[in-house]
Amino acid sequence: MAKPASTFALDIWYFAALKSDVKTGKLIRVEIAGEPITLGRKKDGKLFALRDICPHRAAPFSAGRIVDDAVECPYHGWKFSADTGACTEIPALCEGNDMQTDKIKVRHFPAREQGNLIWVYIASDKRFAGAPDIEPPHFNMAGTPPRMRDSLVLNCHVDHAVIGLMDPAHGPFVHKQWWWRSAKSMHEKAKKFEPRELGFAMAAHSPSSNSFAYKLLGGKPITEITFRLPGIRTEEIKVGKRTLLSFTAVTPIDENRTEITQVFFTDMPLLKLLTPILKIGARKFLRQDGHMVDLQQMGLKYDPTLMLIEDADTQAKWYHRIKKEWAASRSEKRPFVNPVKAKTLRWRS
Ligand code: FES
Ligand SMILES: [Fe+2]
Repeated sequence: MAKPASTFALDIWYFAALKSDVKTGKLIRVEIAGEPITLGRKKDGKLFALRDICPHRAAPFSAGRIVDDAVECPYHGWKFSADTGACTEIPALCEGNDMQTDKIKVRHFPAREQGNLIWVYIASDKRFAGAPDIEPPHFNMAGTPPRMRDSLVLNCHVDHAVIGLMDPAHGPFVHKQWWWRSAKSMHEKAKKFEPRELGFAMAAHSPSSNSFAYKLLGGKPITEITFRLPGIRTEEIKVGKRTLLSFTAVTPIDENRTEITQVFFTDMPLLKLLTPILKIGARKFLRQDGHMVDLQQMGLKYDPTLMLIEDADTQAKWYHRIKKEWAASRSEKRPFVNPVKAKTLRWRS
């Protein structure tokens, strides 16, 4: 029987961790799109990623250690090259045993650092060993120190997490609070969208005046919101020459769990000062979304038919189309054709 197709976008870079999470000499464990992965650094600081399951008897490497740029399994001490995933030593073998250890291989994942963000490439072909033909996303601000970082595991498939993230209509209901907005402040919005690399953008605009938080920035801020596959949303706010980049990554752990990570990068002096307050607000927002996901699961477990309406859910439709087109373009070995056309979307929120 053919294996069912993955429900995740593949042959693509996923956000895996922040640079500071992976210290030289330490191994950490992450799980991305159903793959347990151990991340570490070699002596020269270079990042590597191996499947976190020892091919001998399945112990996780992340509980072991790094010895001379090899990963040592904590169970029987087998060692695997950090570069290739090939077994380099089996301590239990006696002198004269000609077992070819390098035939034993652990899956090796391309890993890349871009500023303070760490990306791992998940190929559709589990034996993929080359260099990916696409680059992870690049953000200039990601080179500056992260001002705040918050993560939450949502109890849902990545598709629901992404759609929730880009859903413009839930704000006045899920994030209703005196300092933000209420159902009473709802009004009609019209925003211009355009296609972007592997996604789309809400073109630069001045945010609505009912967003009190923006007023704290001083000056007239210009905001641009982008989304790209597999689940990267950025909101870049510029005031004069200064920038705030709010980076959100939605990374599937497995079919039923998704990690959402939010990181702020900024060179605005006022915002650096206000970070502790912003943190409280952002944490609250994320947990409100998490609570709604849990409520939604009460219905989703009955596998009901769902609806996407125009224009409030148009971005969700685009996400589905982009994801489908990405998979098709890869399997047909042809360039990706962005299904999004420039359009003004109108909704009330
Ligand atoms: S389980 Fe890893 S060396 Fe035995
Ligand atoms: Fe939300």
